[in-house]
Amino acid sequence: MSKQTILVTGGAGYIGSHACVELLQAGFKVVIVDNFSNSKVESLVRVEKITGQTPTLYQADIRDKQALSDIFAQESIHAVIHFAGLKAVGESRQQPFNYYHNNVYGTLVLLEVMNEANVKRLIFSSSATVYSESTCNQYAEDFPLGAINPYGRSKEMIEHILRDISKADTVNKSVSPWKIVLLRYFNPIGAHESGMIGEDPNGIPNNLLPYVSQVAIGKLEQLSVWGNDYPTIDGTGVRDYIHVVDLVKGHIKAISALENQQFAAGNCKAYNLGTGTGYSVLEIINTFEKVTGRPVNYKIAPRRAGDLAECFANPALALAELDWSAEKNLDDMLIDAWRWQTNNPQGYQ
Ligand code: NAD
Ligand code: UD1
Repeated sequence: MSKQTILVTGGAGYIGSHACVELLQAGFKVVIVDNFSNSKVESLVRVEKITGQTPTLYQADIRDKQALSDIFAQESIHAVIHFAGLKAVGESRQQPFNYYHNNVYGTLVLLEVMNEANVKRLIFSSSATVYSESTCNQYAEDFPLGAINPYGRSKEMIEHILRDISKADTVNKSVSPWKIVLLRYFNPIGAHESGMIGEDPNGIPNNLLPYVSQVAIGKLEQLSVWGNDYPTIDGTGVRDYIHVVDLVKGHIKAISALENQQFAAGNCKAYNLGTGTGYSVLEIINTFEKVTGRPVNYKIAPRRAGDLAECFANPALALAELDWSAEKNLDDMLIDAWRWQTNNPQGYQ
């Protein structure tokens, strides 16, 4: 049997590059479209080194309809995993137009081209940020949505669009139906165990783990812990950190699930990808110090605007319907993040 081809948008990025490794190793042919706005081609050179296989690369913007149509004409695509997008919450507040244009409009162009090519299987990178703020800390998929910043709203809008187009197909029986999985990621961290690919943020990182690693290696002087007066185990923010390799394995499970009965008629379903366990900022620092033997210089600073006290997944639905659960523990995540950092102190440069 010939290999199924998966189109990976944003395949050169942090999560996309890890997905390419797992897809290639699982026997798929991988076609990537990326405009390298937040990644480097070196990540794909590394994917090749890890797997011994060469994904097909198209350097293009997903908003370029002609370029996308050409790719669909050239390749026999079975399904699309759609990672391409902008992802920085703070930046999204400064540049909302860019976020809606890139994320929402970009997805519309992709959907239009997929529809024309009659490729209607899609796995979409959503985020836990789509959930509304609440006093409930553990989110299940049926919890109300209500993102609070332009980045989160762009993801929520896309979710609504995808639900609407798949619902329409259940009515219009003359067309083949969309099959869509929305994956809501909690906090992906860590790196491939080879230490060859990992997260390579531009400039000063916003997220906790890359910041901790860069302090430990001496690139940054001190971590600010944003608040120690939350109603949590030690007063610092609690999040559901998930190993990036576990996360991308959830995508491969989702591709298989598209063929299951539950996706028979134009279905669009959301699944949380998280471990179900929350760790505080201080627990992250202490565990990082324990597994790496490196001290992390930090100070307690005021709360960061927009932060929740506690946020973690109820991952039961992904286990029940995708047969997926996270396997790696916090030590694995931090050891792998540190291996990537020490092997690549300047990232991919
Ligand atoms: P990333 O920035 O490392 O990867 C995104 C990739 O998409 C980059 O290679 C970038 O160059 C490319 N890209 C962006 N806009 C494009 C466009 N218009 N056309 C073609 N390529 C484009 O980000 P990531 O951390 O790998 O995240 C992947 C996806 O997962 C994003 O959609 C993000 O919103 C979502 N997500 C990420 C996290 C996280 O913590 N990393 C959490 C929740 C959801
Ligand atoms: C952030 C984004 C969220 C995105 C997620 C994963 C915001 C408000 N939310 O969430 O949309 O899906 O990243 O990419 O930006 N912390 C510090 N010091 C730091 C950095 C972080 O104490 O220098 C703390 C935070 O207060 C939080 C925890 O570490 O309690 C995790 O922060 P972060 O990695 O930014 O992730 P989220 O806040 O969960």
